[in-house]
Amino acid sequence: MTGTLDRQTVAAAGEARERIEHWRRERNAVILAHNYQLPEVQDVADYVGDSLGLSQQAASTDADVIVFCGVHFMAETAAILSPEKTVLLPDLEAGCSLAGTITADQLRAWRDQHPGAVVVAYVNTTAEVKAESDYCCTSSNAAAVIRSIPADREILFCPDMFLGAHLERVTGRRMHVWMGECHVHAGIDPGRLDRMREAHPDAELLIHPECGCTSSTLYRMSARDLEGPATVVASTEGMVRRAGASPASTFIVATEVGILHRMRQLAPDKRFLPASDDAVCGYMKRITLPKVARALERGEPVVTVDAAIAARARRAIERMLAAGPATAPAAA
Ligand code: 13P
Ligand code: SF4
Repeated sequence: MTGTLDRQTVAAAGEARERIEHWRRERNAVILAHNYQLPEVQDVADYVGDSLGLSQQAASTDADVIVFCGVHFMAETAAILSPEKTVLLPDLEAGCSLAGTITADQLRAWRDQHPGAVVVAYVNTTAEVKAESDYCCTSSNAAAVIRSIPADREILFCPDMFLGAHLERVTGRRMHVWMGECHVHAGIDPGRLDRMREAHPDAELLIHPECGCTSSTLYRMSARDLEGPATVVASTEGMVRRAGASPASTFIVATEVGILHRMRQLAPDKRFLPASDDAVCGYMKRITLPKVARALERGEPVVTVDAAIAARARRAIERMLAAGPATAPAAA
């Protein structure tokens, strides 16, 4: 029975791939996929990367259609950057728990309490929140964006509290930080991470700054309470690059497990251990090959952003693109 089911799944995936190839050509479409996507979705994409890389691709592509294999705020950002193109999100339910932690009304009320403050919004926010912000940033260039703001300006940073704490540490800037979190990264247990480090003393630690464990791990390292090989805090793409470039052969990877596919492809001889097998983003995993095929074939679901909101959000997003990519992630 299992064998029959497996054969059916393989056949369905093969059929979906054929439809994707046909409709990708027919519609002059580009398929962009985030590093957390299912392996088979990453494998059909024209480009796989982090939020910044995907935004750069969306802004520069000459395709007519962008199939966004990621979550809703990413597709919205693509629609804002390329309003003349059709942006398809194969499942509109692909949201983001972190983006859901702040609304435009909440941000307006917060800003009213701090007149004159500069608002920096992480890219994991809705278009409405970006429209109320001065700067947008991703995990790849957040520190550069913060450093570009004059030292005497008050900063409101939203919505991720762990990324905010990390940025305060690396830039030395004090900020007002919104208390939002991503359920996937906040769920990675720092105690388990410590036990993994003890069990694998030669492993390098790669951490995404949305993790709750980032601050405690780095604090303990600087207090010399935790010795060991390098710890690198980076965007998902920075983590992938570091996995390829590092001299280490074993890595503990503290982020969503989808990234392991890229790491293993890039460095098949190295060993990648997830900090938590449960670090699975159900939103990202809503995008499947049959849904990609169906979206291409039907030309829907389309993601659009209201023109007035898009115009205001674009200003913050263009500042994010101008800040450019992060330099190669350094080891702590
Ligand atoms: P990156 O920009 O580092 O890929 O992060 C996006 C994200 O949603 C992390 O959870
Ligand atoms: Fe949002 Fe967290 Fe999923 Fe990233 S992993 S898309 S922050 S819910």
